Amino acid sequence: MKDVLADGLGRKIEYMRISVTDKCNLRCRYCMPEERVKSVAHEDLLTYEEIAFVTGILAEMGVCKVRLTGGEPLVRKDIAELVDKLHSTKGIETIAMTSNGVLLKSMLPELVSSGLNEVNISLDTLNADHFERITRTACLNDVLDGIDSAITYGLKVKLNCVPCRELNNEDVLEVAEMAQDKKLDVRFIELMPIGQGKLYTGISSDLILERLTLKHGTPKELPYDGHGPARYYSFDGFNGRIGFISPISHMFCSSCNRIRLMPEGMLKPCLYYPDGLDIRGMLRRGEKKEIIKTAVTEMLQRKHKKHGFGNGDTGNAEEKRMNQIGG
Ligand code: 5AD
Ligand code: SF4
Repeated sequence: MKDVLADGLGRKIEYMRISVTDKCNLRCRYCMPEERVKSVAHEDLLTYEEIAFVTGILAEMGVCKVRLTGGEPLVRKDIAELVDKLHSTKGIETIAMTSNGVLLKSMLPELVSSGLNEVNISLDTLNADHFERITRTACLNDVLDGIDSAITYGLKVKLNCVPCRELNNEDVLEVAEMAQDKKLDVRFIELMPIGQGKLYTGISSDLILERLTLKHGTPKELPYDGHGPARYYSFDGFNGRIGFISPISHMFCSSCNRIRLMPEGMLKPCLYYPDGLDIRGMLRRGEKKEIIKTAVTEMLQRKHKKHGFGNGDTGNAEEKRMNQIGG
């Protein structure tokens, strides 16, 4: 029988985010600096075999959903092979990916046949000039093609938009309106002051909701779907839902259900804090499965109660950038 994995505060952990690379083919201003940044050396990355092995252990302990993130997961070579391995891992029911969408269209056939179920695609604006200003790359159309293909392939699709005063303030309604006609949800994520994110000003979920309400009328608040931090609304005439992920204005840590595996093999209990368990070291030392399980259980006993954004507790905060953590 499958175990239930819980942390020291009784939160059930059933979802693992796996960052497979810190590299990205875009350079979003709130995430990465423009210049080339040193990335994790190939030999320091967990191999696909190692990722699948760790996932197998976590699945035995209670994890049933994984999400591949980056950087940009599609820039890591042969990523569909990993999807395939995870798909055949006992206990893993859902394989999701968070992508910037640029390479998605061409890779979808392989990804879908390997077992990918869901994709979250980042889209901060529909204005081509603003897209280029934000991502420092001119490929909005590739992203839009990726979105349409993902829907056509029958994947569950969500768009992630991070509203920033300086970057896409006037574009957010148009992004939300993608959920009018298309079979997808749009989620607004409050900017977290991590890495480059500290240089910009986020916009609160409440303000976006207010603006949407002015234009489209009062939405229906949907009951919590039991998964993840988003709170969803349905607007009249919209096909998909509008969601809000509000780490800054509405702390949701008490319902946190996740852990994070980093590209170089650290298993982290929280995005905000730098501590974690060196899984790669354990695997490469040849530690037995049971020893790894015990170490994971112990690590989860120390999973933090809540993040420290906005409370001045920056002394303990993670120094890494978002492309290294995996969002
Ligand atoms: N705050 C909030 N979201 C961020 N992302 C990247 N950096 C930040 C930040 N500082 C988002 C991206 C992408 C997801 C992986 O994380 O826009 O949608
Ligand atoms: Fe790449 Fe995503 Fe960071 Fe943009 S936000 S630079 S797409 S990892």
